Amino acid sequence: MSFGFGRDFRATLFGESHGKAVGAVVEGCPAGLQLTEGDIQQELDKRRPGQVLTTGRRERDLVRLLSGAVNGRTDGGPITMLVANEDVDSSWYEKHRYIPRPGHADYTAFIKYRGFNDYRGGGFFSGRLTAGIVMGGAIAKKILSTQGIKILTHVVQIGGIKVGTQIKDEQVEEFAYSSPVRCADKGKSGLMVAELERLAAEHDSTGGVIECRVLNLPVGIGEPIFDSMESLISHGIFSIPAVKAIEFGSGFRLSGMRGSGANDEFCVKEGKILTKTNNSGGILGGLTNGMPLVFRVGIKPTSSIGRPQQSVDLRTMKEAELRVEGRHDPCIAVRAVPVVEGMTSICITDLMVRAQMIPRTIGD
Ligand SMILES: Cc1cc2nc3c(=O)[nH]c(=O)nc-3n(C[C@H](O)[C@H](O)[C@H](O)COP(=O)(O)O)c2cc1C
Repeated sequence: MSFGFGRDFRATLFGESHGKAVGAVVEGCPAGLQLTEGDIQQELDKRRPGQVLTTGRRERDLVRLLSGAVNGRTDGGPITMLVANEDVDSSWYEKHRYIPRPGHADYTAFIKYRGFNDYRGGGFFSGRLTAGIVMGGAIAKKILSTQGIKILTHVVQIGGIKVGTQIKDEQVEEFAYSSPVRCADKGKSGLMVAELERLAAEHDSTGGVIECRVLNLPVGIGEPIFDSMESLISHGIFSIPAVKAIEFGSGFRLSGMRGSGANDEFCVKEGKILTKTNNSGGILGGLTNGMPLVFRVGIKPTSSIGRPQQSVDLRTMKEAELRVEGRHDPCIAVRAVPVVEGMTSICITDLMVRAQMIPRTIGD
């Protein structure tokens, strides 16, 4: 059982999709950090359901900051954040309690918890729990910004539509969140929107790929061997539901390259050691090397689709047909963008706090 992530900076999630609330408790945040509900809300709004081309669930997702800050600054204690579940309709799940959705966690949860699992909307396996990751990530992101570290995240593939060219950092920063599908390539963004509209009309879903870049990281973040930068980021990112793949830098393409092409040669620019290329994705030996940390996350198609699919009635052990009704994202990658950003922020903050690269008190 592990609902918490991080060692010295730790975010613990709580709640269920159709319970009273979801939220997070963050421990290890330096005291003195300026923090208001508005800071957390700003990040949560990027993930909120009910926006264009996402689940029809209408949630305001208004955060309440219950502990850990006084007079607009963190006090060094646990920070508790909570969002109420407002638009809950469990009727479909009550009816289909014993018929697991193919591709979702209903079956494995039923077996593991011997039927005591919260079957309403996937319980704590629901993507709704990722609101807590975004809340914890909002704090981590604020801490990282005091060190000049920036995280840029955007969608680079939805179904068969891929962003072909390397998009500049400034473009990702400016356009990712103004695109309804969080894609910084305006042309591809339009095609992706059309694809999602088509899929919604066909009661189907698709997968996607999210790219994350972390800029201005100092050299040497990561704790070999088992808490290397790649290990920790992968652990955190694979904890996000529906993630099925991750690759750093040139990833799988490196396996088909020669050393002469794959090695990132060193150079000096404005007195700093950099590399001419970034095939390694900013990591050498599990430690950051001063280049942007770059990785891509593969997200599977939403499993809950409005088409008839075969399942099994767990009471009778007879095969049964199931058609999921209602409110699901046609592509999870769109709303997972701020989640990937939040999880990455938590991982890096934890490693930096451990390495004492972040002071225990921030601010004057
Ligand atoms: C932001 C976000 C939103 C999600 N929304 C849905 C959804 O609307 N419907 C659904 O079936 N799955 C959704 N998921 C994915 C499921 O939670 C996930 O597929 C399920 O828990 C099984 O886990 P697995 O896919 O990692 O095996 C979402 C995931 C995330 C990260």
